[in-house]
Amino acid sequence: MSLLNMRSLISLSVFATCALAAPASQALDFSSFSPRSVHQRADPSLTGYLGAFFLGDKPSVYFYTSNGNNANSFKALNKGQPVINPTKGTKGVRDPSLIAGGGREASKKWYIIGTDLEIGKTTWDAAQRTGSRGIFVWESVDLVNWAQERLVEVEDKTAGMVWAPDAIWDAEKGQYLVHWASKFYATSDPQHTGSPSATRIRYAYTSDFKTFSAPQDYINKSPTNIIDLNILPLGDKTYARFMKDETAKTVFTEISTTGLFGSWARPGGSNAIIASGVEGPAAYWDNQVQGKAHLLLDFYGSDGYRPYETSDVKGGKWTASDRTNFPKNLRHGSVLPVNATIASALAARWP
Ligand SMILES: *[C@@H]1O[C@H](CO)[C@@H](O)[C@H](O)[C@H]1NC(C)=O
Repeated sequence: MSLLNMRSLISLSVFATCALAAPASQALDFSSFSPRSVHQRADPSLTGYLGAFFLGDKPSVYFYTSNGNNANSFKALNKGQPVINPTKGTKGVRDPSLIAGGGREASKKWYIIGTDLEIGKTTWDAAQRTGSRGIFVWESVDLVNWAQERLVEVEDKTAGMVWAPDAIWDAEKGQYLVHWASKFYATSDPQHTGSPSATRIRYAYTSDFKTFSAPQDYINKSPTNIIDLNILPLGDKTYARFMKDETAKTVFTEISTTGLFGSWARPGGSNAIIASGVEGPAAYWDNQVQGKAHLLLDFYGSDGYRPYETSDVKGGKWTASDRTNFPKNLRHGSVLPVNATIASALAARWP
């Protein structure tokens, strides 16, 4: 399907929810509907969700799909076995993030990126001093077949590690904004035995997840350590972002109405948090209820991801969802909406 068709289809479904009276065949002016404004709208073509996670301390990619179109009810694919086992680097991947293609790759390409870390082979201290400076990448044209595994180095030797990479399509820039957490050691300390900088969020742009622009700081709240950034577009220039304060061990949210590099403010004030003792926030819009969003928070010292929800992302108040049918011990990952074609392809591949 061409991008043009995609856009008119999306705009049409948006229009249909706004103005039920207009017959679909009528010539309509869609110019006021930005394709990005659909992010927080229910979309009848979306019939379910695909989640990618790692499990407990098992650093592979595991897939889960929703039971029907229920955003808080998931089941394992592949009988609970991994769908991707990394073969490069430490041969372990944590924090897998599913990235939907954008621009020319919209509806045609998906990526999974993740942290190169098998903690069973190292220690938490060593992993942050001389850990991997690469991010794992796989790509797919159907969400079923994943190939072209690569480990792309994104930081130089002064970085202690590259953790929890995630990305979103930046339509204004026409590229993917990729971000991750790193801390840095002085060039006079090549063995990284001394004291590092605070951990901060870094970013680079890419068109293909092969070559990246020179990394720069994105979020630096030194001396507070920040990891695990996840961004939810709210339409136009408005975004919510979620991150872990690695000093206080809390997850909080910030909102910008002025773009990805605009000014960000914490709803509820500078000490407001969503929850404590959690990490790996993963946000996604509800497929059916306009303006409703979901947020997974990883209770890393306990039973992993638990679902939260809100109808007011900008207000920053999230409440625990019913988790009766949410599997236990899913760790930091991500969730994407899927349509009927993709849902049945996933079910056929991993019955
Ligand atoms: C689902 O999405 C795929 C890929 O974007 C597309 O090819 C297919 O036509 C879509 N199916 C439906 C039912 O919308």
